[in-house]
Amino acid sequence: MSNEQSPSPQSPPVEEPRARELRVGVVGIGWAGQQHLKAYASLEGVRIVSVAGMEQDLRESLQAEYSIPKAFADWEEMLEHGGLDAISVAVPTFLHAPIAIAALERGLHVLSEKPIARNAAEGQAMVDAARKAGRILDVAFNHRRRGDIQALKEVIDDGGLGRPYYAKASWLRRSGIPTLGSWFTNPELAGGGPLADIGVHALDYALHLLGEPKVVAVSATTHAELGPRGRGGNNRYSAMATSHAFEVEDFASAFLRLEGGATLLIEAGWASYRETDDLLDFMVYGTDGGAELKAQGNPLAPVGKLSVFTERDGENADYVPQALPGRAHQAVVEDFVTAIRGGEEVWGEHDGSQALYRAQIIDACYQSAREQTEVRL
Ligand SMILES: NC(=O)c1ccc[n+]([C@@H]2O[C@H](COP(=O)([O-])OP(=O)(O)OC[C@H]3O[C@@H](n4cnc5c(N)ncnc54)[C@H](O)[C@@H]3O)[C@@H](O)[C@H]2O)c1
Repeated sequence: MSNEQSPSPQSPPVEEPRARELRVGVVGIGWAGQQHLKAYASLEGVRIVSVAGMEQDLRESLQAEYSIPKAFADWEEMLEHGGLDAISVAVPTFLHAPIAIAALERGLHVLSEKPIARNAAEGQAMVDAARKAGRILDVAFNHRRRGDIQALKEVIDDGGLGRPYYAKASWLRRSGIPTLGSWFTNPELAGGGPLADIGVHALDYALHLLGEPKVVAVSATTHAELGPRGRGGNNRYSAMATSHAFEVEDFASAFLRLEGGATLLIEAGWASYRETDDLLDFMVYGTDGGAELKAQGNPLAPVGKLSVFTERDGENADYVPQALPGRAHQAVVEDFVTAIRGGEEVWGEHDGSQALYRAQIIDACYQSAREQTEVRL
């Protein structure tokens, strides 16, 4: 089977990627795209052959830094040029589906940034394209790769908390709208506000920690109080700062009923009047123990404050699990490359369906907020 794009009849047979160097391209050169470039560049047997992004100076400097043979202003030119086995998609969310589907149809493996797409319908089209092409569709959920979250996952999986029955996952900023007026604050370009942007990370690591329970119903609210008044922005770089108005929520909370009776509260806010800025928080109560994690929202932040509360012989027996530093995008990109090299036997497990499930839950949350009623999934 060939991974070459549009091979001409004279093309020599192309070897399987696992037997030779993997040729990757990265679309998008903002913060996210740069994490993918850095991670690919560190891996043996991986060659970054092309990069695409609209900012000419930045594109040229990244091309030089990583010795990338080809650079393009637009993703379509990059795909048409060919010579790729896999791409990363690190562009505004409205472009995830068109780029991923076009790449999958050319036989490329795709690692998309989160959220999978603007909504579940687009996400479903991406998953369908991956299954049809028999290629990988992974979505970058780098926060579940935090060392503290992985340490807590071990505690929960080993039964250290008994049966979890209530959890809360939040990511809240005081003043962290990612560039007022950028694509992030336009629903047509982003699909939603902080619920879709950072809430999807909180939802992802919460479901991951809780063992992927089914969500049976959601009841959510959204608010837009600071953003529309020009407050709560930060000076985070966005390559696409434009004059879009603030048309998404700046705060959301969602109460999720899980199969088996447990419940999960998700809070996601780019801006609200609070003491701490950019705090990622998780707490869980189980029948034999509870745990709390407080960490900085920055994906590259060091290990957060993680504690487990339990008892032995009627006495409190609290402890701090050992956690290694997280590896964020490095781990996500390595997983993607490992899966590609794993061959067709493993590709089917990487069809984007877990990320699609997150999009279905978030769609239900927005519906619940709009209709002011509980929505069953
Ligand atoms: N996983 C994480 O921790 C994390 C963090 C930040 C952003 N993200 C995600 O990454 C994606 C990008 O976010 P960002 O913060 O890097 O955005 P950004 O606005 O900083 O960068 C967007 C990039 O997309 C490029 N682009 C836009 N249209 C293009 C086109 N037609 N052809 C080629 N390139 C094009 C722009 O030129 C720019 O380089 C989003 O989906 C976002 O949700 C993920």
